[in-house]
Amino acid sequence: MNSVSICNKWELPLLDGKGGHYRYLDTASRRNAECFLELVDGLRVASAVEYFGGVGIFSTIIQQVLHPFQHYVFDVDPDCVAQLRTIRGLQATHGDAHETMGTLQAELVVCDFATCTLRTVDEWPWSRVVAQRPRYIVASDTAIRRLGLHRSIYSRLASQNIHTFSDYVNAYSRHMWTRHGYSITRVAHHVYSYFLLEPGLSPGATITKVTAK
Ligand SMILES: C[S@@+](CC[C@H](N)C(=O)[O-])C[C@H]1O[C@@H](n2cnc3c(N)ncnc32)[C@H](O)[C@@H]1O
Repeated sequence: MNSVSICNKWELPLLDGKGGHYRYLDTASRRNAECFLELVDGLRVASAVEYFGGVGIFSTIIQQVLHPFQHYVFDVDPDCVAQLRTIRGLQATHGDAHETMGTLQAELVVCDFATCTLRTVDEWPWSRVVAQRPRYIVASDTAIRRLGLHRSIYSRLASQNIHTFSDYVNAYSRHMWTRHGYSITRVAHHVYSYFLLEPGLSPGATITKVTAK
């Protein structure tokens, strides 16, 4: 049986599988987990829901660090769901996030999209998610790697000039505040970004670049 080392702290045994996040296990950076840990460490929540559970790397961090009383995890891929069901303390269910997002109430909502940027963020049912009034939302974003290439698209979408990553974060935050009443309070990133959103208008987000350990 294979396993994956999470933040050099936890070893997650893996069932054999091919779909969903299994396809990216060799290429996905270990720093994704470091970013997620950076954002959630210190939060106190009684319940969590993940709508893109993958193989359970973030689920393991949630179990080990946050110890929620209720922890629900969905994924659209059957191999991932089988793998998620090996992790103690959570309830894993097959489900497409287009339908599942916002169906459960939880204090922490995690959306680790396969890909998502300002260009596609509105394709997901955020209105249902925020209607459940979560205290925290973590959303992944893949724009940073090609920000230079797509600057003009993001600037047009945001109706403001986006030059730097910080400009992009501010624009994303304003977008979510205007539409859903949540804004970004913290960011952890390497070549992918993870945003922590909370209700209300944040004066500005703390941005942490996670380096290899
Ligand atoms: C970036 S991976 C998530 C990795 C996860 N955080 C972990 O710790 O293993 C994205 C996952 O989203 C799943 N996915 C893609 N589209 C989906 C959808 N529409 N609904 C639910 N899950 C989806 C994929 O199967 C994949 O496992």
